[in-house]
Amino acid sequence: MFIIVLATRNQKKIEEINQILNIRNVVLRPYHEYIDIHIPEPGETLLENSLLKAEFVHRITKLPALGEDSGLFVEALNGAPGVLSARYEVNDKKRIERVLRELGNSKNRKAWFRAVIVYYYDIKKYEVFEGEIEGRIAYEPRGESGFGYDPIFIPFGYKETFAELGPVIKNKISHRAKALKKFKKFFIRNFVERQK
Ligand code: IMP
Repeated sequence: MFIIVLATRNQKKIEEINQILNIRNVVLRPYHEYIDIHIPEPGETLLENSLLKAEFVHRITKLPALGEDSGLFVEALNGAPGVLSARYEVNDKKRIERVLRELGNSKNRKAWFRAVIVYYYDIKKYEVFEGEIEGRIAYEPRGESGFGYDPIFIPFGYKETFAELGPVIKNKISHRAKALKKFKKFFIRNFVERQK
C-alpha cells in the first residue's frame, strides 16, 4: 500500500478527493490522523497556501503529501472572494449571503472556481496541478449537495447549481476534478508505471 497524506481537514473535500482519485493500492489519509493542529493559510495566492500545507504535512509525516487550496472568483467583484473564500464570513450560509449581497442585481454574474494542488513527495521536490471551471452566480441558493459556494455556482453549460447537480456530475467537471486528474496522470506515470 502507498500512503498519501491529505493536507486538509475539510471532510467534504476529502470525500471528493477520494471519489475522484481512486488509484489502486493508494490510500489517502487526512493529516489530522498524524497531528492535531490547524494549518494556517496566510498566503496571498492559492499556490502559496497549497504549497505551504503540503510541505508542512510532508515535513511532519515524512510521507508524500497532497495540499489543496481553492476558491471562488467573481468577475464583477474584482475576483473576490478568491483566495479568501474560506475566510469571507464565518460560515457557508453567511459567505453565500455576502456574495449575493455584494453582487446585488448585477447582470455580470460570471465566476469561476480554481483549485491548485501540490504533490510534495520529497525534500524540496514537488509538482503543481491546477484546475478551473467557469460558470455564473445564481440569484439565490439552490440545492443541498456539496459544500461552500456550491448552492450559488452554475457551471457553464448547465442550468442547475453544483449543489443541485450532485457529486457524480460535479466530480467529473469541477476545478478539483480537473486538477486531480492531472495529478493522477503524473502519479501513475512516475510512481506506478516505473515500478512495473
Ligand atoms: P480552502 O481551500 O480550505 O482555503 O477553502 C476554500 C474555500 O473555497 C472553501 O471553504 C469553499 O468556501 C470554497 N470552495 C472551494 N472549492 C469549492 C467547491 O468545490 N464548492 C464550493 N465551494 C468551494
